[in-house]
Amino acid sequence: MPLKKAMLAGLNDQITMELSASHAYLAMAGWLEAQNLPGMASWMRAQSGEEREHALRFFDFVVDRGAEIELGDIAQPSSTFSSPVEVFETALAQEKQVTAAITALYTLANEEGEFEAIPLLTWFINEQVEEEASVDQVVEDLRRAGGDPQALLMLDRELGARPGGGE
Ligand code: FEO
Repeated sequence: MPLKKAMLAGLNDQITMELSASHAYLAMAGWLEAQNLPGMASWMRAQSGEEREHALRFFDFVVDRGAEIELGDIAQPSSTFSSPVEVFETALAQEKQVTAAITALYTLANEEGEFEAIPLLTWFINEQVEEEASVDQVVEDLRRAGGDPQALLMLDRELGARPGGGE
């Protein structure tokens, strides 16, 4: 059965949202690089890559269902921040928006009887729990570190250990 119109529109919007998140995280990586925080920058770069993979998961689902991909605009992301904690707070707010969008898609899939989309969306619901928790942890650690340069340096090293940052 072909994808219903509303579901297809929602999935295409989600592809754009994931790509926008990827774009925003890369901008954050750029700002963190400029602050000489290469570990945090690497963490953001890895996150940017993960968001692109998320977009491609939705992309593949739409293609596998024989429907048309229609990408939307990607807005210019913020590339100036007042502090590392503001960067991660912005990331957390973004993740919460993504979670809300995915939950809405899950509700739509149920309402429209698009049950083939449920396993994909369930995967994303679980993924969002992890993503929000990991960003929230960094926000908490940064708040605790305050302006202490030593604590910031240690946190930068710790975050730089995340695989996939390309450095
Ligand atoms: Fe793909 Fe971080 O949401």
